[in-house]
Amino acid sequence: IEEKRRFLVSKLRQFPDFPSPGILFEDIMPIFADPIAFNTLLDVMADHLQKTHDKIDVIVGLESRGFLFGPSLALRLNCAFAPVRKAGKLPGETVKAEYQKEYGTDVFEMQKGILPAKSKIVVVDDIIATGGSAKAAGDLIAQLGCEVLEYLFLMELSFLKGRDKLSSPVYTILAGQE
Ligand code: PRP
Ligand code: MG
Repeated sequence: IEEKRRFLVSKLRQFPDFPSPGILFEDIMPIFADPIAFNTLLDVMADHLQKTHDKIDVIVGLESRGFLFGPSLALRLNCAFAPVRKAGKLPGETVKAEYQKEYGTDVFEMQKGILPAKSKIVVVDDIIATGGSAKAAGDLIAQLGCEVLEYLFLMELSFLKGRDKLSSPVYTILAGQE
């Protein structure tokens, strides 16, 4: 598994000063461009989750980048996938949660009825920064009467201490960026 992790880190590409000066952007897209790397990512995630939890009912992925691997991971684990979407995208009745973005607030939504009652959930996304997005997702899941077993990310901006906002365990597949 450590070797697989190193292989995945070698696939990341760094872009200085994107999207703004002083920011070092870690591009995860090369992982999805290579089926061997994508499979390896799913191996590492599935291995961790199978060791950590007896039973996972639903993988919840956050729009947009959580959708890159959330459904594939759910399929690998033989469980359901459900999306958290940005406001106004989902039909029918929804629950809503606000969160802070760089400029102003944003709203996340989930459909009522998408999660079976009392489901045990793993929330997945590409990266945790301030933790605002993940916290809003956790609020939605609580509103729907379900439990977050864990928040799972590829990467973490650990200096922002986003994990301190979350009340379930946080796991990062690739090393946290300092
Ligand atoms: C980025 C990233 C995470 C979130 C992390 O998404 O993909 O979802 O920000 O930030 P936070 O921990 O401070 O909430 P973004 O909202 O930029 O949208 P995208 O996934 O659609 O690109
Ligand atoms: Mg995102």
